[in-house]
Amino acid sequence: MEPSRTVSIIGTGSYVPEKVLTNRDLEKIVDTSDDWIYSRTGMRERHIAAADQATSDLGTEAARAALADAGISAGEIDLLIVATLSPDMLFPSTACFVQEQIGAKNAFCYDLGAACSGFLYALDNARNQIASGAVKTALVIGAEKMSTFIDWNDRSTCILFGDGAGAAVLQAGGEGRGIMASAMGSDGSLADLLWTPGGGSRNPSSQEMIDQGQQYLKMQGREVFKHAVVRMAEALTQALEKNNIKLDEIKCFIPHQANIRIIDAISKRLGVADRMYTNVEKYANTSSAALAIALDEAVKDGTIQRGDLVALTVFGGGFTWGANVLEWGK
Ligand code: ACO
Repeated sequence: MEPSRTVSIIGTGSYVPEKVLTNRDLEKIVDTSDDWIYSRTGMRERHIAAADQATSDLGTEAARAALADAGISAGEIDLLIVATLSPDMLFPSTACFVQEQIGAKNAFCYDLGAACSGFLYALDNARNQIASGAVKTALVIGAEKMSTFIDWNDRSTCILFGDGAGAAVLQAGGEGRGIMASAMGSDGSLADLLWTPGGGSRNPSSQEMIDQGQQYLKMQGREVFKHAVVRMAEALTQALEKNNIKLDEIKCFIPHQANIRIIDAISKRLGVADRMYTNVEKYANTSSAALAIALDEAVKDGTIQRGDLVALTVFGGGFTWGANVLEWGK
């Protein structure tokens, strides 16, 4: 049964660290070129966190911006979710560290693990808790310090990722339909195509594990590419059907910013190239932060206006994927 209360995003914010790493800079680290990277990924540069900045620090900056945009204080937040695959520590949750930094004393906090799909999963999760009446105000954050989990000797992965965070504040009410139902799915049989195999209970920290580089992200790029295109296009179609909305009615599509060729392939399948929002050129793939940063930028640069229908879609390790639709009411 669909929840009865409308749930809206009342503020967004994002943050990327100061340091910029360009493709030219990467040429000095691994055997690659600006031309190779740009033609295969659409990326020109990415931001890299400072050594003393953890994921929660990035999330905190984005959270502060979103709270200011929403015009509410941290004390009003009931629920705080951080979507991340690069937590500060195995426990406690990165969400608890953000809570402490922003002073969200009345919130209950947890992390959500759905790799690059995390922000959309967390939005859906918060939306349903608000719609059911369980909580009034939620802060949802996607934050990643990917640079810690990347093997800087592996040219096939190190060029793809960046650090950053994005956030949204959700509340009941608002104009229009707000955040609508999502279409989401997962397939654990394909986990080994994109994962960080070491450092957990399956393959705990040890000198041998570290010597083998198991603490770094591993990816079968071509396989990931194929599945990402199919699943994101499918999820978008399903989310639209679920909410009885036609493709033509969507003003702006915001996909996970993994790679311009993945985004272009989805655009081609659905015939929506003119309405696809991208910023992968500036930030590369910031995993669960990517959708949150893109949403914030699309709102701030005026691409998304009051009353517009916006479709979001994601894909990530697990595999996990999903899409949803929202009517922008702010
Ligand atoms: N610079 C130069 N050459 C490179 C680089 C590099 N950075 N990386 C790989 N190569 C080489 C390879 O070694 C290979 O050389 P060889 O033919 O001599 O063996 C050649 O380029 C082709 O390698 P492929 O991996 O087959 O290249 P492909 O065209 O598939 O592009 C890429 C690789 C960009 C990773 C692509 O597969 C892709 O975009 N995959 C999607 C992965 C993705 O976006 N993952 C993000 C995480 S998941 C998510 O967020 C959805």
